Amino acid sequence: MCGIIGYTGNRQAKEVILSGLKRLEYRGYDSAGIAIANGAMTLLKDKGGIDHLISILPEIRGKYGIGHTRWATHGPPIKNNSHPMLDCKGEIALVHNGIIENNVALREELMKRGHVFRSETDTEVAVHLLEEFFEGNLEDAMRKTVTRLEGSYALVAMHSKENGKIVGARNISPLVVGVGKRENFLASDVPAILEYTDRMIYLLDGEIVTLTKEQVKITDFEGKEIKRSWQKVEMSLEGAEKGGYDHFMLKEIFEQPRAIQDTIMGANLNAESGYTLGLRPETIKIIACGTSYHAGYVGKYMFEELAHIPTTVELASEYRFSSDTTSKPLVIGISQSGETTDTLSAIKTAQKRGLDTLGIVNIVGSTMTREADSIFYTRAGLEVGVAATKTYITQLIAMLSLAIKTGVATQSLGIDDARRLTNEMKKLPKNVRSVLDQSDKIFEIAQEIAGARSMFFLGRNINFPVALEGALKMKEISYIHAEGYPGGELKHGPLALVTDETPVVAIAVKDQTHGKMLGNIGEVSARGAMVIGIGTEGDRELEKYVDHVIYIPDVPPLFTPVLTSVVMQLLAYHVANILGCEIDKPRHLAKSVTVE
Ligand code: F6R
Repeated sequence: MCGIIGYTGNRQAKEVILSGLKRLEYRGYDSAGIAIANGAMTLLKDKGGIDHLISILPEIRGKYGIGHTRWATHGPPIKNNSHPMLDCKGEIALVHNGIIENNVALREELMKRGHVFRSETDTEVAVHLLEEFFEGNLEDAMRKTVTRLEGSYALVAMHSKENGKIVGARNISPLVVGVGKRENFLASDVPAILEYTDRMIYLLDGEIVTLTKEQVKITDFEGKEIKRSWQKVEMSLEGAEKGGYDHFMLKEIFEQPRAIQDTIMGANLNAESGYTLGLRPETIKIIACGTSYHAGYVGKYMFEELAHIPTTVELASEYRFSSDTTSKPLVIGISQSGETTDTLSAIKTAQKRGLDTLGIVNIVGSTMTREADSIFYTRAGLEVGVAATKTYITQLIAMLSLAIKTGVATQSLGIDDARRLTNEMKKLPKNVRSVLDQSDKIFEIAQEIAGARSMFFLGRNINFPVALEGALKMKEISYIHAEGYPGGELKHGPLALVTDETPVVAIAVKDQTHGKMLGNIGEVSARGAMVIGIGTEGDRELEKYVDHVIYIPDVPPLFTPVLTSVVMQLLAYHVANILGCEIDKPRHLAKSVTVE
């Protein structure tokens, strides 16, 4: 969480920093700030997002500076807790992403030595340490400062007396250097600076970088110089623009056919290559958070059916505390950002246990791509909306592709069946388009449920995790309380909450669960609930049980989650839009969760 940026070069730093912060805003939007040095330090920060910052920003001239957009961890989102932070003399400015875990002890120690703290943040200790260690060289001061810090951090700092110099340090939280011509950049991620350069150096944990407009110098925390050349990134900025849609989320929902197609292409699913995978695990454990966890949960059914491999799914934040057992599963970590701290820590835990790890990641060059033993890339492109949509859909495609390959490797699936499934998969973009075509109809249903305070989402078997995801989408962007349940579980407690004021979305596609789902729908409609059914084209029976029905094309049961999920995304989107919610930036959330 939090987005940080630094610039040194010949342009006016303010312009570069503000445009970078706009692109980083998805990482946090509680407050924002900017500091520009020009002989003296000029700083402006406030509660609120980047647009607010721009509206109150006076003309500031200067060719090096830093900026920050915050997702609050320590201290509420008020002006004083916003970054950049200044030292006591107002000469050093610092921005931070991460959590300094020993901040309480350091604060006490620094206060005893006379430092005056102006915020409640964990970050401020770092700027006072820099002040204590500064003897004319900020890089040296940074090296001494990091020896005192525990926790996660990407730090970027500058000193008003060290003209044109920006210093960064990384431990766990991401930091990337953009290499320009007579200008250099530092940012939390690539899109923030892609407008200016596509030549990137990814900083690793335990490294310090010093930028001037002419030079990029990387050292380790001991001061040993590290030579690393830049890599050209192939990423388009198009993804960072709304392209005529009202919201990034809607644009990203409509980009799913393309994202699916690209991910299938990247999966290299063909008989000529023998569906090679190189993996024949005895068991699989999938670890992830949030929406990625739901994708993993869908994957469990795919691995079990196609490869007959027992598969468990665990929340990454919980896996770390589980006991090591005699089972030696292949651990699959799923993360669109590749930066989620809980998932990265779980991967490390698995590796310490001697387990093989495979990462399913969307962002090329992200931390997970370096930490997992092997990587499968989803090819969703840049996703800006905080609520994951196209990245989730491509995670489902990744699961399917890997399950098909593993099935062939374990001989649970013959090549002919693999080929048939692959051909079916290739029809998914078209099938998704036919769900997208029903957006207006889904909007009409959304109007009927927008007034609800609570909702239920039901599904069974492979569509149970889709119900969980449908509920998550609804609650995170519309703020309507929503719960996902397996259809059969309601009668064991939650049915007590079902009334004529709790709309129910029920996935009742034509598969082995169909009959049972109709029974579950009967149970909730008998309690007065309005039911929105999601069914398979041509299923006239379902219409008799529900108030509204949305049909998906008839596809093999294992593929239905891709289509039922799109219905849920559109429903959540329209409800949130009708309610006037901040769809792309839901309250309290951030796109990249780099705290534990
Ligand atoms: C919800 C959402 C989150 C993320 C979760 C994991 O729409 O996007 O639940 O799925 O924070 O993020 P990644 O996939 O980046 O590890």
